[in-house]
Amino acid sequence: MVDESLGLKVSRKSGEKIRRTLIEMGLFDRSRKICSDESHVYLPVLEIDEKSAAKLGSIGQFELVHFSFLPEERIISPEDLLGFRPSFEVVGDIAMVEERDAERVAAALMSTNKSIKTVIAPISDVEGEFRTRRFRHVAGEARTVTLHKEHGLRYRVDLEGAYFTPRLGTERLRIAGLVSPGDVVLDMFAGVGPFSLLLAKKGAKVIAMDKNPVAVKYLRENALLNKVNSIEILEGDASELALRYENRADHVIMNLPHSACEFLIPAMRAAKSEGMVHYYCIAPDDDLYKDVALIKKAAEEKDLGVEVLYKEIVRSYAPHRSNVVIDFRLLKS
Ligand SMILES: C[S@@+](CC[C@H](N)C(=O)[O-])C[C@H]1O[C@@H](n2cnc3c(N)ncnc32)[C@H](O)[C@@H]1O
Repeated sequence: MVDESLGLKVSRKSGEKIRRTLIEMGLFDRSRKICSDESHVYLPVLEIDEKSAAKLGSIGQFELVHFSFLPEERIISPEDLLGFRPSFEVVGDIAMVEERDAERVAAALMSTNKSIKTVIAPISDVEGEFRTRRFRHVAGEARTVTLHKEHGLRYRVDLEGAYFTPRLGTERLRIAGLVSPGDVVLDMFAGVGPFSLLLAKKGAKVIAMDKNPVAVKYLRENALLNKVNSIEILEGDASELALRYENRADHVIMNLPHSACEFLIPAMRAAKSEGMVHYYCIAPDDDLYKDVALIKKAAEEKDLGVEVLYKEIVRSYAPHRSNVVIDFRLLKS
């Protein structure tokens, strides 16, 4: 048995215009479903007073009716179940949650999102040279390996063995927009390959390196998985490996935000004249682009010209600290 409630009967022709106006006026009843027959649409409304009736009448003809609208099925969110909005990040089919209420949050996530198969909680910060984190298993299948999709590519990732975050997805697209087919790209800190493979798919010739053997293992696997051939993969220290490519790179990607400044000289040597370096760092919010001075100093040391092309916050990192990017062009005589 469905209760009758208030609605507007309007011609199919003016249905969409009136629906939008009702939403703008805050009069559309979202708890009920729109209904239609061959010639008319029935729009559920909360109330209609004289003033709103006059406004709606100026948009299209309508008849006020009582109608048996079906209830709108509402998707239950984790917030509905928990009473608060949990903070979490999803990579592939794994959700990473905070320690507070982890078990309750995991149950809410898994019951509202069937694609989540595993829930883990970090028990360490992102730490060490390889920028990895340790996790504890909270619910679902006990694993840290998953398959993540980004910009049409698939990445096998071990969240405990190598660094990966989906939060840089938009930034990776921005860089892809700057790279042309045939460009040589040196990705100094490639991880499991999210910059490298996207750029190689765009037609760039990519040289990707990482010191973490686990990251390199997944990078190789991901190149095969995505049928990417125009990539050379190297395991080792970027400060040495980059020197093999002196004056070769149209683009150098330096995504090691905590210590990128220590690698400026090899990056500058690898870039060709007019080559671009995409430099990521963590900076205090009151001095976001302090590393510009370091970049200029390193260029001066090597007698190179430098032109800063772009600087922006990529994401917030911690209270009062942000992950920023500085793109600069090198001018070599
Ligand atoms: C912040 S992660 C970035 C990974 C990848 N670019 C991404 O967006 O997911 C930094 C990477 O640099 C690697 N790394 C750290 N020191 C390195 C070094 N000296 N030479 C090469 N790779 C290094 C780490 O193993 C890690 O995979």
